Amino acid sequence: MSFRFTNRIQNTPKSFIREILKVTQDPSIISFAGGLPNPSLFPIEALQEAARETLATAGARALQYSTTEGHAELRAWIAARYERRGISVDPDQVLITTGSQQCLDLLGKLFIENGDEVILERPSYLGTIQAFTMFEPRFVTVDLEEDGPNLEQAEKLLATGRPKLFYAVPNFQNPSGLTYSRAKREALGALLRKYPETIFIEDDPYGELRFSGEHHKPLYAFTEGRSIMLGSFSKITVPGFRLGWMVAPPEIIRLAVKAKQAADLHSSTFNQFVIAEYLKRHSIDDHIAKITDRYGAQAKAMVAALEREAPAGVSFTRPEGGMFSWVTLPAGKGSCMDLFNLAIEQKVAFVPGMPFYTDGTGQDTLRLNFSNASEATIDEGITRLCRCMRDFLK
Ligand SMILES: Cc1ncc(COP(=O)(O)O)c(C=O)c1O
Repeated sequence: MSFRFTNRIQNTPKSFIREILKVTQDPSIISFAGGLPNPSLFPIEALQEAARETLATAGARALQYSTTEGHAELRAWIAARYERRGISVDPDQVLITTGSQQCLDLLGKLFIENGDEVILERPSYLGTIQAFTMFEPRFVTVDLEEDGPNLEQAEKLLATGRPKLFYAVPNFQNPSGLTYSRAKREALGALLRKYPETIFIEDDPYGELRFSGEHHKPLYAFTEGRSIMLGSFSKITVPGFRLGWMVAPPEIIRLAVKAKQAADLHSSTFNQFVIAEYLKRHSIDDHIAKITDRYGAQAKAMVAALEREAPAGVSFTRPEGGMFSWVTLPAGKGSCMDLFNLAIEQKVAFVPGMPFYTDGTGQDTLRLNFSNASEATIDEGITRLCRCMRDFLK
């Protein structure tokens, strides 16, 4: 039987990472392939207490259908949180979503028609490539450098007036771990003000997870409110609640609400109430400090092992936050899929870089996740991986 599926779904790639994760299920494999927050840091007891309190005091309200925009208390909390970065946000500009991933789907529905240009960083977040591909855009890219996007390439694209969206992850990017410098933020902000037809989407699930260096202002501060910020509770509390948000100008929020109504009416009322209760009872800053202490130690172990073991010509990022480091092999030595197969034989796994590119390149790159292994395991895993790299590069 043949089903008459849309081109849209048939052309959308399966999550390559989920496929890779199947191979790395074997517990004897040291896996740097995942992208999950460390579950030992989930505030389970505190959430249990918040859930009990929610049922006792807000009972039926927390279990009823609710507004699409989201729980007022949570929207107010999110708006207030931006003040720490010197940004003023009205709670009415906040839409609570089912993970920040849903924002990508909603924004695709609002902005992307078949063939519309969308600027991505090169490499870019796979989940966005997947979500936007559903709307059949034409991806154009700007190289991501150590301190942010290549501005000449960005201006060339923006100057055509064609790109409708510019999607970026300026803090501890997934997959590269890279962060935009203050100077690049200012310069990119100036470009975005010069070409205001293109809307900037600033996806920031990792921004709070800074373990070294200084926090920077979001790009939002430099774009006169024409950009959209995405945020998430997944990395600062738990991903299983599926709660994220979008901050945008009121006209965009109005239409995003319409799109969200059509998609799922609203995000889980109960989960929103429980998170709001948790945030009232506990210091999120203390919790984030625990996460950054842990991830900071894990990142340090990974970078130290790479510095010691990486063969000549291999470069890697030194993240100041988030969950990933990114390795670049000397060009033209073959596909890192072959390195992946060698590494699996040596019981160590990573994510080959190709799926983070929309132009079929990336064969000489790989993503390493450090949030899920002990420092000793990271050391051993990187030692094995670098041994495989030496064989691969021979
Ligand atoms: C850059 C980026 N954006 C968005 C998401 C989606 O997160 P969530 O839907 O859990 O908020 C992720 C998840 O890993 C991510 O890395």
